Amino acid sequence: MTVSSVPNPYAPPAAPADRSQPDPEETMSRDQVESLQLERLRWSLHHAYRNVPAYTELFDAHGVHPGDLKELEDLRLFPYTDKEFLRRAYPFRSLAVPMSEVRRIHASSGTTGQPTVVAYTENDITTWASLVARCFRLSGVRPGDKVHNAYGYGLFTGGLGAHYGAERLGCAVIPMSGGQTEKQVQMIRDFEPQAILSTPTYLLTIADGFRKLGLDPRGTSLRTAVLGAEPWTEEMRREIETIFGIDACDIYGLSEVMGPGVAGESAGSKDGSHIWEDHFRPEIIDPFTDEVLETGRPGELVFTALTKEALPIIRYRTHDLTRLLPGTDRPGHRRMGRITGRSDDMIILRGVNLFPSQIEELALQIPALSPHFVLDITRPHRMDQMTVTIERRAEVTREVAEAGGRELVHHIKTRIGSSATVQIAEPDTLARSSGKLRRVYDHRKEA
Ligand code: DLL
Repeated sequence: MTVSSVPNPYAPPAAPADRSQPDPEETMSRDQVESLQLERLRWSLHHAYRNVPAYTELFDAHGVHPGDLKELEDLRLFPYTDKEFLRRAYPFRSLAVPMSEVRRIHASSGTTGQPTVVAYTENDITTWASLVARCFRLSGVRPGDKVHNAYGYGLFTGGLGAHYGAERLGCAVIPMSGGQTEKQVQMIRDFEPQAILSTPTYLLTIADGFRKLGLDPRGTSLRTAVLGAEPWTEEMRREIETIFGIDACDIYGLSEVMGPGVAGESAGSKDGSHIWEDHFRPEIIDPFTDEVLETGRPGELVFTALTKEALPIIRYRTHDLTRLLPGTDRPGHRRMGRITGRSDDMIILRGVNLFPSQIEELALQIPALSPHFVLDITRPHRMDQMTVTIERRAEVTREVAEAGGRELVHHIKTRIGSSATVQIAEPDTLARSSGKLRRVYDHRKEA
């Protein structure tokens, strides 16, 4: 069965003649962005309703029709969707265009069971590349730069998404992918890139690679790192910036909504990622009551894609916890605060909620402790127990690190409200990431 698609009236523009300059939509005022959103939202709702039976059924069951959208606020009338909604349509029943129009298929890194399939038309790929290029430019990457891309290539959207974005900006891309750390070090030394794209934890692994060869990571040609795909803290930014002597900026995205480049951070202000609201309408909701919260309040991030052709996304619940803030360097587009965690990664420890990013923040405030740690959650004698195993910094003695560990126990108790045990590990003994790092091992479910 093929379904005919209404042509998207907002086909992406060709790359600008001067690639160092912002796109016209990027510098629009808030009013201009919102009026564009309303127009595009109308198209997107109709497109989903008309061409994806799962949306037709969902909207009908909810008693809403795309024609009910008169103003942006009316988006609330429409039902939420989630990973489960997309999984039910596995592999291709959530597509709104015939396969002959699809040019790329990716799948999200689901930890369990069936992956979520995402697909792109030619226009989708061009839009994606132009938004990633926007992020890189804002983060200080320039046309003509050599860009070392250490995001994984393959079904994961990170590698190819970043690759096309860097090309679109007018950069020379070095498509390294993740892993083979020694080779990464060699390529950085020999090819002398100005920018590196990686997860924050993999960049730490690369830093270790330099040190193992007796090299100072501050001595590279790198100037900028654009980091994302996993939560990271301001403390981690400082750590990475100090290790390499570079600027590190955030890039955010998720496969279902597009991939990397849904939001990007300005190197000038380093105050959180601007969400490209000419293509995505974000909302923050209370994850328990589903109520929409006003700008500034923390909750779960929900996205509606405004221009996507192959895979329409309406009110998609990301499970990412953050808040919306007014735009700064790009005033027409709101920013997102740091992702504090995912609602499904939250650790509930004897009734106290905590996220690995809180441990990262506290640990990195203690000079003797490194950013390399894992959390093991167990339930001996029916009491939840969290053990933080963290490497000491190579330059401090075990004794000093043990004192740091006691300080961490105290901070976890006073600032988070949980009792934890801290074990000091020797440098370079914990598993390193080559992409998204797994920090939490919850053994309670195994009991
Ligand atoms: O991780 C896309 C991406 C690739 C983003 C490269 C940035 C750079 P998924 O594999 O679908 O897509 O995972 C999406 O990763 O819902 C967040 O939980 C997390 N995530 C992505 N970027 C950030 C970030 C890619 N900057 C999931 N900060 C999202 C915190 C992030 N979490």
